[in-house]
Amino acid sequence: MKNLTAVITGASGGIGRAIAYSLAKEGCNLVLFGGTNAKKLEDTALALKKEFNGIAVDFYPCDLTDDKSVISLFKKAAKNGVDVLINNAGLAYSAPVENTDMQTFDRIMKVNFRAPVLLTKEALPYLRLSKRASIINIASVVAHNGYPLQSAYTASKHALLGFTKSIAAELYNQGIRVHVISPGGVYTDMIKTARPDLTGEDMIMPEDVANTVLFLLKNRTNAVIDEIRLHRAAKQPFS
Ligand SMILES: NC(=O)c1ccc[n+]([C@@H]2O[C@H](COP(=O)([O-])OP(=O)(O)OC[C@H]3O[C@@H](n4cnc5c(N)ncnc54)[C@H](OP(=O)(O)O)[C@@H]3O)[C@@H](O)[C@H]2O)c1
Repeated sequence: MKNLTAVITGASGGIGRAIAYSLAKEGCNLVLFGGTNAKKLEDTALALKKEFNGIAVDFYPCDLTDDKSVISLFKKAAKNGVDVLINNAGLAYSAPVENTDMQTFDRIMKVNFRAPVLLTKEALPYLRLSKRASIINIASVVAHNGYPLQSAYTASKHALLGFTKSIAAELYNQGIRVHVISPGGVYTDMIKTARPDLTGEDMIMPEDVANTVLFLLKNRTNAVIDEIRLHRAAKQPFS
C-alpha cells in the first residue's frame, strides 16, 4: 500500500474521511475530492497532513456535476499517477416520485452515477500504468433493493452497480480490479439527516466501510471479490 496514490471522492464526508484515514495509516498518498463545502475538505486534509508525516495529501473542492471542472481538476490531481480510484461521493434524496422534480433527479444521477463514470474514464490512462490498479465504487443496499420514497437515489445506485459489473469484467484483463461495496445505513451526516430517529446504536460505522476498502486493496489474490454487501447488525430492515 505504501507509496500508492489513491483518489477519494466525497472525502470530506463521513465514509470518505474514514477511508482517507485508513489509507493514510498504510502510507498511501491521498488526493481528496470534496464538494461545495471547501472548508470541511480543507480541515480533513490538514488534519491528515498533521497526523501522518511522509505522505502527500492534495485536496480539490469540485462540484461533481460539472464535467469541465471534474476533467480539469482530475488532470491536476493525477500529476503523480493514480493507483486507486474510490468513487464515494453521494447524495441521498427521499421524496414521493411525483414530488421528485427532474432537476433534482438529474443532480442525484450526476453525483451518484455520472461522476463515477467520468472519473473512471479520466483515471483509466493512469490506472493502466499502475501494478496495483483498483477502482472501488461505494453503492448502497438501495442498489440491490427497492425502497419507497427513494426512487431517484435507488435508480442512481442501481445504475452505478450495473456500470461497475460491466467494467469489472471489461478491465480485469488489463490488471485493473473493480469492486463495489453496498452498505446498509452507515452512521454519518447523510443518515443523521435522513433518519434523525436513529441513534447510531447497532449501525454500520464509517470505519467498517473503510476496513472493507482496505481488505479489497490488500487482497489482490487470484480470488476476485466483485461485490460486498454490508448489513447492519440490528434486526429491523434498513435502507
Ligand atoms: N450513510 C449511509 O447510510 C450510506 C449507506 C449506503 C451508502 N452510502 C453511500 O456512501 C457514500 C458516502 O456517504 P456518507 O454517508 O459519507 O455521506 P456524507 O457524510 O453526506 O458525505 C457525502 C460526500 O459527498 C460529497 N458530495 C455531495 N455532493 C457533491 C457534489 N455535487 N460534488 C462533489 N462532492 C459531493 C460531500 O461533499 P460536501 O459536503 O462538500 O457537499 C461529502 O464529501 C455515498 O455515495 C452514499 O450514497 C451511504
